Amino acid sequence: MRIATVFSGIGSIETAVSKVYGEKNQEIVFACDTGEREINKTKEDVENETRGMNEKEKQKYISTLYFGKGKRNFVKESYFANYNISDDNWFEDIRFINGNLFKNKVDLFVGGSPCQSFSVIGKRAGLEDARGTLFYDFARLITEIKPKVFLYENVPGMLSHDDGKTWKHIQDIFDSLGYKIFKALLNAADFGIPQNRKRLYVVGFKNKKTNFEFPKPKKLTTSLKDFLDEEVDAKYYLKEKGFEFVTTNPHRARINRKIIQTQKANQQYNWNGDFVFEHLDKHKHDKAIQDGAYVGNYNGDMGLVRKLTPNECFKLMGFKHFKNVVPDMQAYRQAGNSIVVDVLVEILKKINEVL
Ligand SMILES: C[S@@+](CC[C@H](N)C(=O)[O-])C[C@H]1O[C@@H](n2cnc3c(N)ncnc32)[C@H](O)[C@@H]1O
Repeated sequence: MRIATVFSGIGSIETAVSKVYGEKNQEIVFACDTGEREINKTKEDVENETRGMNEKEKQKYISTLYFGKGKRNFVKESYFANYNISDDNWFEDIRFINGNLFKNKVDLFVGGSPCQSFSVIGKRAGLEDARGTLFYDFARLITEIKPKVFLYENVPGMLSHDDGKTWKHIQDIFDSLGYKIFKALLNAADFGIPQNRKRLYVVGFKNKKTNFEFPKPKKLTTSLKDFLDEEVDAKYYLKEKGFEFVTTNPHRARINRKIIQTQKANQQYNWNGDFVFEHLDKHKHDKAIQDGAYVGNYNGDMGLVRKLTPNECFKLMGFKHFKNVVPDMQAYRQAGNSIVVDVLVEILKKINEVL
């Protein structure tokens, strides 16, 4: 399975493809992510500056622009720690990928453009008129690469935005690329992961005769407690202020829920999201935990409250053995931005049936 991904993040599709096809049967043709960094240059500026350069020089120049900002690409660091890829197959920015170089070399092309860009798409019509948006570059790469199948993921709001006009434009654009498309809203909680995370999935086939059906929901048999780590470092336990906030703001913070709410990029840093309450236990809670954490009353029980660990957040996105090499704040962001692997696995099995 030759795959290429953009907005690659921590490689949810790469992990899913390894599960379905086996790691050895996966070739990552390329991956791409800015690592949530920006440069103060337009696409035209960079195109002018790189005119006359060969492809390698051009990508090197673009990397230098990004690294010149002094910020590390944490997404790339995570990606390289977990997947088999070389620098030559990594791009910093989708806008500067020349898809013609990969024409007919990709079976599956995947991406979910950051959602802030679709408010712009909504005001326009046709592929050329979507220029300047990251969605445009995703669609442009489909026309250049001509993958057998593409998969596009986004938030459900894309369907309702601007009274449905945004989605209509997007659908028209996908149709104009000559692909047969299918769409569905799927919730991770219907595919084995105790997280209410509903997302829009669009699958497009180059073969217009393809008939595709999305996977059917399954009964959830797991809950949050099945995803918790056995040993948790003292730093994840809350002090008094955090404990008080989390135990008294049920709209922001939820405790010991069976199914967690959608993980978000910034959740654990403003006491937002899901937390774990534990009764004080002299065996489980060592001296470091007891010295640092606040022991308080929650619903009549005395105990401690802690954040989910980054490892737990990765597991709750379907990454069973994710190698984390970045600081916690980045790890939480990357987990919160990802697609749930288990949903992709089920979609891939269905794609496999029709290919
Ligand atoms: C919502 S996340 C998607 C993450 C991915 N779907 C995953 O499974 O982990 C959007 C990602 O797009 C990246 N991004 C934003 N602008 C980009 C650009 N111009 N080129 C490439 N990646 C970009 C961000 O760094 C972020 O990681």
